[in-house]
This record gives sequence, structure tokens and C-alpha cells, in this order.
Amino acid sequence: MKTTKKIMVSGIQPTHKLTLGNYLGALKNWVKLQEEYQCYFFAVDLHAITTRQDPKELGNNTLFALATYLASGIDLNHATIFVQSHVRQHTELAWVLNCFTYMGELGRMTQYKDKSSRAGETIPVGLFTYPALMASDILLYQADLVPVGADQKQHLELTRDIAIRINNLYGPLFQVPEPYIPKIGARIMDLQNPEDKMSKSSSNEMGAIYLNDSPKEIEKKFKKAVTDSGSEITYSPDKPGIKNLIDIQSAITGKTPEELVLSYQGKMYGHLKIDTANLVTEELKPLQEKTQTYLKDKAELQNILRKGAEKAAEKAETTLRKVYSAVGFVPY
Ligand code: TYM
Repeated sequence: MKTTKKIMVSGIQPTHKLTLGNYLGALKNWVKLQEEYQCYFFAVDLHAITTRQDPKELGNNTLFALATYLASGIDLNHATIFVQSHVRQHTELAWVLNCFTYMGELGRMTQYKDKSSRAGETIPVGLFTYPALMASDILLYQADLVPVGADQKQHLELTRDIAIRINNLYGPLFQVPEPYIPKIGARIMDLQNPEDKMSKSSSNEMGAIYLNDSPKEIEKKFKKAVTDSGSEITYSPDKPGIKNLIDIQSAITGKTPEELVLSYQGKMYGHLKIDTANLVTEELKPLQEKTQTYLKDKAELQNILRKGAEKAAEKAETTLRKVYSAVGFVPY
């Protein structure tokens, strides 16, 4: 008997270069979970332009992100991968969802508050309504599970609220999705400021490990990582720098933080830094090589993305038609 698999959906903004946080908080879990689900993974270029982008870089970063998905082990037998802007249903459903999302809800999004406070006087409307577009990305595919880092939890909760609100008004149009947030790796911190999350747009490049950093850069960044006072290696919130390095090791090796702390008894911070650098270098090396291979064959990559967009659009259109009909649009 053919069993229908549950659906998993996720995406990454192709702004700047992807970080170790994107990889450990999201991508690595997509790969881990993919076999049990029918997956849709995309590069969210529509989201990216909520902050100003260099057009050429945006294109390159989009292809880089998708090549990285494949290089990480995303398997086309389980996953459809594509560029968000290639599937017009994302923006169409987003408009409808905008009409069912409240200003107060959007104003409470911490990511909006953070980013808009940095944007100064000219805050693009898109930055404000962005969570409705993210809800569209998820609800279009009737996602059961959305694997993300901890910073996206609030957006996921809003997505659930919007889905429930619309289902209550019009009947069961949407699957209400569950977030998947990993126990370890959900919040990789900035190496220079371990109170802040590692981010693509970090003001200090030394704080973020980018997926295409060379072994030398990785070593330099970990060696210079800000650690805490004292010298004993423990796993505790009052040693955020050390905790972060242990989290990174734990997310890569699958060992628990307790096991790792035990293995560092009697050792110095310097040992932990060097070991973490080596581990990250080893983890990223095959990823970097494979990413380059996928990027070299642009025609094949574009082909994968075209087919992906066609397949995604089919699924997305089914949901969009149901929604259009439910709200009373005349069929076309
Ligand atoms: P974005 O592009 O900021 O991040 C992509 C994914 O990486 C995770 N992440 C982290 N995880 C651990 N530690 C970090 N320091 C870290 N930084 C980022 C994020 O939680 C995310 O899972 N709005 C989303 C993209 C998006 C999306 C979607 C995700 C758009 N539509 C639909 C899921 C489903 C974003 O800006 O992620």
C-alpha cells in the first residue's frame, strides 16, 4: 500500500553568505529528516529584498545557497528545491494572508523590531509584512513540519495562528504546521559577541563562520573567539563563549555537551578552540568541494531549479485555488 508521506518545508534567505548557524540550526536537520518526509526547500529571494541587496550578488547568493543545499546532502528523491520567486503562488497567497494578519501581531515580531530599529527612518513595508510571506511559503505546501533555528519560532507561531484563524472562518484549508527546533545548534552565537546570534549580516566578520571560509580563516576566527573569565571548561549560561563552542561541537558530532565537557577535564580554553576549528574545517571541507562542483555546472543547476519550480507550483496552485474559492474570488 502506498503511504503518503508528511510534508516538510523550509528556506534560507540568500543574503550575504550562509553561516555555520544556518547550517547547524537548519540545513543539517533538513538532511537528517528528509527521508521521512516529502520536502520542499527553497532559497527565499523575495524575503531577501526586504533589506537592500546588490542585484548581482543576490543572484549569485541564490545559486550558492541552492548548490549548498545539494552539497549538504539534500536528495532530489525526497526533496523539491527551487527559487522562491520562480513560484508566483508565494506572493499571491501572501497577499491574501496579509488581509488576515493584524498590524499588532506583526508589530510584536522581535526580528522586525530588531531590523527596523537598525533601518533608521526608511523602513520598507516589506520588512513589516514579511511574516505573512513566510506563512505563505509554509501553508501553500500544507507543511506538517518546518525545521528552523530558534530565531524563527515566533514567525512559526504566527503562521499557526493565521492558519487556524482562516480555517475557523472557511473550513480546513490549511494544515497547521509544527516547528522542528533542534535541541542543540538552534542558536549558534557570534564568536566575537556570544550574547548575540551568529548572523549573515554581522557587523564584525570575525564573529561569523561562513560556509565558504578557508581553513585558515576558520582557525583564525576560532582562535580569536571571545571566551569567558576563568579557565575551567564548563557548560553553563554564564560562560556563553565556551558554551557556544561546545554547542558547535555537539551539533556536529552528536555527542552531548556533558560528554564533551568530561573530555576537556584538565584542558585549557585554547584546546577547545583549536579542536572546534578543526572539527568545523573537516565538516565544511566536503561541503565546500561539492558546492563548487554544483556551481560549475550552472546549466544542470538551472535545470534542477526549473523542474523544482514546476513541481512546487503544481502543489502550490492546488492550495491557492482552494483559498481563492473560499474567500469568494470568481473561478478563472
Ligand atoms: P534566515 O535566512 O535568517 O536563516 C535560515 C535558517 O537558519 C537558522 N539560523 C540559525 N540557526 C542557529 N543559529 C543561528 N545563529 C542561526 N541563524 C539563522 C534560521 O532559524 C533559519 O531556520 N524567514 C526565514 C527564512 C524563511 C523560512 C520560510 C523558513 C522564509 N520562509 C519558510 C522556514 C519556512 C529566515 O529569514 O531565515
